[in-house]
Parts: sequence; C-alpha cells; structure tokens
Amino acid sequence: MLNFDFYNPTNIIFGKGQISELGRLIEKNSRILITYGGKSAQSTGTLQEVKDALSGYEVHLFGGIEPNPRFETLMKAVALIKSEKLDFILAVGGGSVIDGTKFIAAAVYCEGDPWDMVLSFGQGITKAMPYGAVLTLPATGSEMNNGGVITRDSDKTKLPMMNRLLYPRFSVLDPTKSYTLPTKQIANGVVDAYVHVIEQYLTYPVNGHLQDRFSESLLQTLIEIGPQVIENPQDYDLQANLMWCASLALNGLIGAGVPQDWATHMLGHEITALYNLDHAETLAVVLPSMLQQNRTSKREKLLQYARRVWNIEIADEEKAIDEAIEKTRSFFISLGVKTRLNEYQLGPEVIEPLLAQLKAHRMTQLGEHNDVTPEVCREVLQLSL
Ligand code: NZQ
Ligand code: ZN
Repeated sequence: MLNFDFYNPTNIIFGKGQISELGRLIEKNSRILITYGGKSAQSTGTLQEVKDALSGYEVHLFGGIEPNPRFETLMKAVALIKSEKLDFILAVGGGSVIDGTKFIAAAVYCEGDPWDMVLSFGQGITKAMPYGAVLTLPATGSEMNNGGVITRDSDKTKLPMMNRLLYPRFSVLDPTKSYTLPTKQIANGVVDAYVHVIEQYLTYPVNGHLQDRFSESLLQTLIEIGPQVIENPQDYDLQANLMWCASLALNGLIGAGVPQDWATHMLGHEITALYNLDHAETLAVVLPSMLQQNRTSKREKLLQYARRVWNIEIADEEKAIDEAIEKTRSFFISLGVKTRLNEYQLGPEVIEPLLAQLKAHRMTQLGEHNDVTPEVCREVLQLSL
C-alpha cells in the first residue's frame, strides 16, 4: 500500500426529512447566500423546504448556476456576497451547483484574478468561505470532497481544482430529493459514480486489499441497483443506496493509499467543453476505449476486475479482459447511456481539436503511469468513434 494522508471533515446528515436540521448546522447570526441551478430547485419544492428550515436567518438567493458551472456566472455570485456582506453559502443542487459554490467560496477571498485559482488546479487558494450543501442529484461526490470542475465559456476551458479548504462543512443527503430526477440524470449519476471508482481501482496492484474490496463492493452495488433506480425512481431504499454509493465513490476513502488514473475524466472534460456532452456521457464514451488502449499496463487489475466484479471465469486471459471491457460498455448501454462518439454525430474531425485542448491545458501526461499522452488519447478517440 502507498503512503497516504486521508482527511475528510464533511459532516453528512443523511435521510428523509433531514433538511429540517439546517437550523442546527448553521450558526444563528449567519448571513446566508443560497446558490442553486436552473428551475429544478424551485419546481420540486426543495428550495422552499430549505427556506422554511432557515426561517429567522437573513437569506439571499443566487440562481442560474448552469450544468458545467461557468466562471462568468459564478463571478456574479461573488459580487453579491461582497456587496451584501454575506458570510455563509448553502448550495442546493447537484454537482454543478456544489462545484460552483466551491469556486465562489474561494473567489470571494481571492486578491488577484480568480481564474488563476482554477489554472493552478486549486493550489493557489488560501482562504474559503464556509459553506454547506443540500444534495439533489447523486453522481459526482462533490458533496463530500474537496474538488470542483469549472468551465470558462470564453475559451472553452473546463478544469478541475482541488484544495483542502474546499470541503463542505456539512451536506444534507435526503434521498427523497432525487425522486424528481429525469431518467437521463439518474443514469448519468450511476455512470459517473461507477467511473469514479474505476479511476481509483483499475490501475495496478499495490496490495491495497481493503481499498480493492471497498471499490469492488461499490461497483457491484451500482451494477445491481443502477437499472432498478431507473425503473423505480421513487423507491426510497434504492435512491438511498445510490446516493451513499456516489458519495463514497469520491470522498477520498477508496483512493487513499492506491494509484489513481483520471485520464478518462480529463479527456471527457475536453469533450464536454468543446461539444457539450454531459459529463457522464463523455465518460461512457471514453472509458471502454481507455481500458482497451491501456490493457497491457492495467492487465493485472483488469483480470481482477473481470473475476471479482463480473464473475468472469474464462481461462484465456485476453478473452477475459475483452469480456470485462464489453460488459462495462453493455452496462452503460443498459442504462441508456451511449458509448460511441458517432451516436452524438461526432466523427474523426473532433480528434485534433480535442488533442489541441489537452495540450493547451497541460494534460499531456495522464494516467497512473503518466504515459497517457495526447498520442495515446488519439488512439483512444479513434477507438471511441
Ligand atoms: O439546473 P437545474 O434546473 O437545477 O437542473 C439540474 C441540471 O439540469 C437537474 N437536477 C438536479 N437535481 C434535480 C434535477 N432535476 C430534477 N430533480 C432534481 N432533484 O440535473 C441537471 C444536471 O445537474 P448537474 O449538477 O449538472 O449534474 P451533476 O451532479 O452530474 O454534476 C455534473 C458536474 O459535476 C462535475 C462535472 O464535470 C459537471 O460539471 N464533476 C464534479 C466532480 C467533483 N466535484 O468531485 C467530479 C466529477 O467527476 C465531475 O467532473
Ligand atoms: Zn466524474
């Protein structure tokens, strides 16, 4: 096992009705900005429920944070916090609202150009305003981690940032809040959580036995419940299991002490920024090809994945790996998520622009061995057509 430093201070308040606990979680004299996305927080009633739980507080609202939250929009919230002298932020939404809130929390204290915080992948952050979250979409794990992904529209740049100061103080996880999700967003959430586990599990063995078993249990739970949640979105236990799976998939636990990959994510971010596919849609397109292209360096873990996650008992090791990659693709398809670029009307013409963006963003040595270069990504994209 590799050395590690595991830190996660986020308080999780899980279960039906827990939004009513907000008054206990936020200091009484706080001046709060509630951040949210488009229409869903209002139309589902979650925003009203949050406001009711915060009666007695001074509350301001900032809506309109879009999927793949944009720098340009978020800076307007920064201005509002400064002009109204607010001191706590409450994000109500999915990964985009929570990620955007992380950026806002840090940008409020940024003395230079806040975009530089993103360009430094979050390392330039020195202070952040305290914030909490009410999660409405299980997928990203943003509710329990220190990462955010921010897009600047002007130059189509989508970059991750991470910093210890960016963990939410608390997150309220009420599984009934995701009853209203469209099928597509539930499927996206299952795919995103699944690929988060794969990025931390499917690398090379370092005798992280417990981490491997944790990861395999998350993958198997997602395989088991993913299609069921799509069929029964109002089933409390299914939504509860999905929500907790998604949080544990990216809260630092399974990645502590093991190598991590993230090449699929970094290439996927470029596809979203240039061609507007949803985050999980890019992952379902890239992951099967990334595994195929890197099957030699990932060989031992691919065989373990085949055997322990998919119960593949084929003696021929190459065939077992083929089967495991195919089952991964079929799982995404079974959830209704496409796995080919051409299904989005994207052809070979997208490859060079995507590689140019990877280079512009210093994403030239990806993967657990730093050997996923733009040349390797070219092959991956060819396989994804
Ligand atoms: O905007 P509204 O109207 O609120 O609608 C949203 C949005 O259109 C809707 N929605 C959310 N909760 C709902 C709901 N609709 C009905 N009922 C509800 N309860 O869902 C749509 C998608 O929301 P979004 O927040 O964009 O989805 P997701 O949670 O998948 O977040 C995606 C973003 O997170 C980033 C992605 O790159 C992307 O920008 N990621 C963040 C990570 C992290 N912080 O650790 C890791 C991930 O790998 C990922 O990169
Ligand atoms: Zn993701």
